[in-house]
Amino acid sequence: MGHCFSYPSSTSKTDLHNNGTTNNLSNGTKFSSTTATTTSSSIERRSQFSEAASDTSGGTMSHSGLLLETPHLKVYSFMELKTATKNFKPDSMLGQGGFGKVYRGWVDTKTLAPSKVGSGMIVAVKRLNSDSFQGFAEWRSEVNFLGMLSHPNLVKLLGYCREDKELLLVYEFMPKGSLETHLFRRNESFPWDLRIKILIGAARGLAYLHGSQREVIYRDFKASNILLDSKYDAKISDFGLAKLGPSQEKSHVTTRVMGTQGYAAPEYMATGHLYVKSDVYAFGVVLLEVMTGLRAHDPRRPNGQESLVDWLRPELSCKYKVKRIMDQGIKGQYTSKVANEMARITLSCIEPEPKNRPHMKEVLDVLEQIRKLNVVPDTKSAVASPSRSPHHYHYRAGAAGVERKRAPPGRFGVGK
Ligand SMILES: Nc1ncnc2c1ncn2[C@@H]1O[C@H](COP(=O)(O)OP(=O)(O)OP(=O)(O)O)[C@@H](O)[C@H]1O
Ligand SMILES: [Mg+2]
Repeated sequence: MGHCFSYPSSTSKTDLHNNGTTNNLSNGTKFSSTTATTTSSSIERRSQFSEAASDTSGGTMSHSGLLLETPHLKVYSFMELKTATKNFKPDSMLGQGGFGKVYRGWVDTKTLAPSKVGSGMIVAVKRLNSDSFQGFAEWRSEVNFLGMLSHPNLVKLLGYCREDKELLLVYEFMPKGSLETHLFRRNESFPWDLRIKILIGAARGLAYLHGSQREVIYRDFKASNILLDSKYDAKISDFGLAKLGPSQEKSHVTTRVMGTQGYAAPEYMATGHLYVKSDVYAFGVVLLEVMTGLRAHDPRRPNGQESLVDWLRPELSCKYKVKRIMDQGIKGQYTSKVANEMARITLSCIEPEPKNRPHMKEVLDVLEQIRKLNVVPDTKSAVASPSRSPHHYHYRAGAAGVERKRAPPGRFGVGK
């Protein structure tokens, strides 16, 4: 590890290592530090839900943690979820992440009880790896946060199961998979108008989290956690690392450093201090991925180019260079003004100083303006007309001639 992080103080203060939940696929390496970093008081180090619970009556304490009462979530037995997924049949697998495997399942539309394959509605069932380090905490965080929050741009958690060692989560099914799938795993380029639509949806989701009465810091913003419904409306998923924001008199929370390589903000890497603006940084990294068609972190790139931000930050402030770094597959689908405005907002999101980054609400406003700006008068030079289905788009190399790769073994595309 450490090859991507060039922040000098990070290694001295945080002992980064793969945490056992690591997803070795190319969508990013998860990391965590071994211990809580430095200055946090014991109060700050408490689980986010011991704090949440003090504001909420009716939580149920279990031997290994607090689960808030979430009456609208269905509690499933393991047997029921076995039925819903045809015994976790490999051919019903939608994908795999650090938490475990995700399966397609069927439930009754009204009661959400398991139903026969083909009747009722499809759901996504996430099953925790039994050897997953940190798994219970992430599972509980997911249930507690998604059980309390509701917004059109957050994925809906329908229920969960906890039985012996088995921990599962049941979500609404997102038929178009993740932004990551479309940007990096398919052999056709993904149209600009869908890219900007998805960014706006995801920005709305984050702005909602940051604007809630007690801010929620999401902490795991990345392309694979932006899921897409049938109309490519974006929904943020995976609240395993989410934290309640600082109490009034504080500017940040102090936590163990956890996240995905390439997306974590420099101040968080260096000190464990987490701000809502750390999410804004990660959003900026996704903006850069969307512009360039390149991954936030890719160890297969030449020396000095592994970290997308470190590599391309200097290009963002120079108009003629911006043109060069844009994904070649979407050439002609956006105006130069749009590319430059995208570069500008990306640069401000990835500002090294958190206080210099914009709020998500401002980012959202800018992206909406950028969408309106994009009137491409002549589509002759475009790769293809944006009104066509993305599946009609042909393969093109990404920026800087880096070729798209097919999904590595172990990952399955969804929503084809
Ligand atoms: N609700 C859902 N509907 C459809 N597909 C889903 C759903 N949730 C997850 N998936 C798919 O399952 C796969 C694994 O998702 P998961 O969230 O477990 O891992 P990840 O985000 O890829 O990685 P990480 O664990 O590092 O966050 C992804 O390819 C995702 O597209
Ligand atoms: Mg995920």
